[in-house]
Amino acid sequence: MSSKEVRVGIAGVGSCASSLVQLVEYVKSGSELSKTGIMFDSIGGYKAEDIKFVCSFDVSDTKVGLDLSEAIFAYPNSAKKHVEVPYLNVKVHAGPLADGLDGILSTKINPHRDSELATIDDVTEILKKTKTDVLVCYLPTGAKQAVENYAIAAANANVAFINCTPELVIRNEKLNSLFKEKKIPLLGDDMRSHMGATTLHTALIELLSSRGITVNNTYQLNFGGNMDFFNLSDPSRNLSKQISKKNALYAAGIDASTVAAGPNGYVEYLQDNKVCYLRIEGSSILGSNITMETRLEVEDSPNSAGVIITAVRIAKTALDNKEFGEVIEKTCPFLFKSPVKGMTESEALSAIKDYVASKEVVFND
Ligand SMILES: NC(=O)c1ccc[n+]([C@@H]2O[C@H](COP(=O)([O-])OP(=O)(O)OC[C@H]3O[C@@H](n4cnc5c(N)ncnc54)[C@H](O)[C@@H]3O)[C@@H](O)[C@H]2O)c1
Repeated sequence: MSSKEVRVGIAGVGSCASSLVQLVEYVKSGSELSKTGIMFDSIGGYKAEDIKFVCSFDVSDTKVGLDLSEAIFAYPNSAKKHVEVPYLNVKVHAGPLADGLDGILSTKINPHRDSELATIDDVTEILKKTKTDVLVCYLPTGAKQAVENYAIAAANANVAFINCTPELVIRNEKLNSLFKEKKIPLLGDDMRSHMGATTLHTALIELLSSRGITVNNTYQLNFGGNMDFFNLSDPSRNLSKQISKKNALYAAGIDASTVAAGPNGYVEYLQDNKVCYLRIEGSSILGSNITMETRLEVEDSPNSAGVIITAVRIAKTALDNKEFGEVIEKTCPFLFKSPVKGMTESEALSAIKDYVASKEVVFND
């Protein structure tokens, strides 16, 4: 085992954060099963069990002030409890509220009073004090200002930033240059799921294209019952998600301008289960028709943890190497829906594998 740590901070202690914290606890148990689905055993010398949570931020009055191990199971999170998480001694701090709970979320979540006063500088200070390497931003979609605040705080603290939301950070020129100038890794935007609708959709399109089949029409309908789907049911909050999902389809090589691909409904009883219906209509040999319908059902939040367990170790490796460009180019197309420049599924997989293989080191204890 390496003697080094990946010191991780979390902004937004919602369902995705819950699954990531649970996953790290699970791999620390040493059970063989705990590694199921984790694509890379070691990245830059870091194993999944080298991840250590050192700070966290939220604004909900049900989470601020709790230990991270308690906040991940607090209302209204719906990620299933797969493992027990012991006391972590990581307090959830009040972060700057901004537009974090705007729209429909304000009907379910009350802001903690300290979040109205918290500033970007407070976040920077905590990141520095806790020697955070990587800040993972799990804020709600549509929280543009709040996401930007955490990105600025991370850049000011020389901390790598992972933007799991579809709000523009890596594709925001001003924010991008902030990180680029200091050679601090910035990964984004909008994480993919480990085996989710976007991956399945783009992989099927690539498969059909490889046989010379033309895709004429396609849709991807998604339903779920967690807070992400609740928030996305508000039209004032879901625009960036729709654009992001289409960006992934453009990268797969199809004109997504008329494709319906988005969050399509909040179904409360589904909780953290997500259901996706996919249809693809195409033309094949002699102009013959080919039609395909697929239904995918997954637990949404563990599916996101499968990607971020890779992303945090890539961000730390790039931070160690003071890298900015190469890591973005080679790893973001696989990990995110809206990277600066997209790739097809197979190109993205081979690029991230090359990157990981080229950065491997072994630490001496
Ligand atoms: N598989 C997935 O679940 C998946 C996949 C891709 C992208 N995403 C994106 O990841 C993000 C997180 O998803 P989630 O399911 O964990 O959402 P969630 O609603 O469960 O969690 C969001 C958390 O952010 C907190 N928050 C709101 N404003 C804040 C602020 N200003 N500062 C700190 N915390 C704040 C909320 O109180 C909540 O705890 C969303 O943007 C979502 O679209 C999720």
